Amino acid sequence: MADYKVKDIELADQGELLIEWAEAHMPVLRLIRGRFEEEKPLEGVRIGACLHATKETAVLVRTLETGGAEVALCASNPLSTQDPVVAALARTGTPVYAWRGQDTEEYYWCVNKVIDRGPVLTMDDGADLVGTIHSKRTEALEMVKGGSEETTTGVIRLRAMEADGALRYPIVAVNDTYTKYLFDNRYGTGQSTIDGILRATSVLLAGKTFVVCGYGWCARGVAIRARGMGSNVVVTEVNPLRALEAMMDGFRVMPLLEAAPQGDFFVTSTGGINVIDRGHMELMKSGAILANAGHFNVEINIPALEDMSTGKRRLRPSLDEYSLKDGRKLYLLAEGRLVNLAAAEGHPSEVMDMSFADQALVAEWLWKGEKLESRVHEVPEEIDSTVARLKLEGMGIEIDELTEEQKKYLSSWKEGTV
Ligand SMILES: NC(=O)c1ccc[n+]([C@@H]2O[C@H](COP(=O)([O-])OP(=O)(O)OC[C@H]3O[C@@H](n4cnc5c(N)ncnc54)[C@H](O)[C@@H]3O)[C@@H](O)[C@H]2O)c1
Repeated sequence: MADYKVKDIELADQGELLIEWAEAHMPVLRLIRGRFEEEKPLEGVRIGACLHATKETAVLVRTLETGGAEVALCASNPLSTQDPVVAALARTGTPVYAWRGQDTEEYYWCVNKVIDRGPVLTMDDGADLVGTIHSKRTEALEMVKGGSEETTTGVIRLRAMEADGALRYPIVAVNDTYTKYLFDNRYGTGQSTIDGILRATSVLLAGKTFVVCGYGWCARGVAIRARGMGSNVVVTEVNPLRALEAMMDGFRVMPLLEAAPQGDFFVTSTGGINVIDRGHMELMKSGAILANAGHFNVEINIPALEDMSTGKRRLRPSLDEYSLKDGRKLYLLAEGRLVNLAAAEGHPSEVMDMSFADQALVAEWLWKGEKLESRVHEVPEEIDSTVARLKLEGMGIEIDELTEEQKKYLSSWKEGTV
């Protein structure tokens, strides 16, 4: 068995069942794995992956391994690891360093273990692996041919590195493909955030005021699903276009200071910092429930909440009650970390099927091609459309094709009003 560090290897049987269930709902990755089995396009390629260590990630890891890669995995969040899943991966020989409930030191110990294996390709979710390689482990840069990034916040960090002239190898922004953000960020985060809130609190959503901070791809998914559960949804934004879109999608839009005294639930998903700040929490009703679905645990000002409180109690897994000095109580879910991964299981397998199909095909493309320039690159359009086509195939859905006449018409400028 390979080197590994997980919570309990005895959980491996349970993990195998979880992985089997995920794989049954990931037809595109299964198809890619079938081809990888024959072609072995990643033979001997060392891949370092820092991803949420979930059952869907296990299906990706095994797909890459089937293609010949040697994958080492660590978690991209201290609270998102599914312990049975990593136990199963460890038992079948993947070097995996992840367990749920790590402190910061343990988290980076695991990131460093992955770097120790000398990755040639990196796969990140939030850019902590790339960030560590570029700051503390620069000796590893020499070996790396390229990397991919899974999430919006990671792409933002990497673009900032590029702008600073600090990025030393090419990164492909998997997050920015249609087959990723239109489905994973929107429908994945939408459903799994509601799932996380319900598992943590088990309270009724119908008739409650549900404040969603942001109206990006993730937040709009949360807003539509909260509305579907019967909540009165309020959206807050800083971008006028997105605010307008939210308004015309039928949501109430207002500043957070105005929404603060009204909300029963508050969910952030902006990629920003202190979106819910002290001044907002000072106005909230006693009993309000706060959660974050953005990448880092900085969207809710937790130090301010701690400072406003006389004490806190853990009432249920992922549910902390803060008793404020003025007598009110506020409830924080999953310690302000991604509520959908920390309090539930993350996105449903069906959407991760597309995101991780993009990841697998991008790894193959990066490895087979010439080394790219050291900047953030788009995923080739062909990969995006292949994944969409395979997904439709996997769902048994056929679509029409343009006729020759239609193709000609659409590419011509000569025909106008008739
Ligand atoms: N929970 C998950 O599983 C999951 C999945 C994908 C992405 N993410 C993360 O979620 C976050 C959002 O991703 P996205 O793809 O929706 O990004 P996005 O860029 O599409 O949307 C972010 C939105 O937040 C708005 N915003 C920024 N600051 C704000 C503020 N102070 N108040 C109100 N609105 C504000 C922006 O104007 C923008 O419209 C990122 O951190 C991303 O990495 C989480």
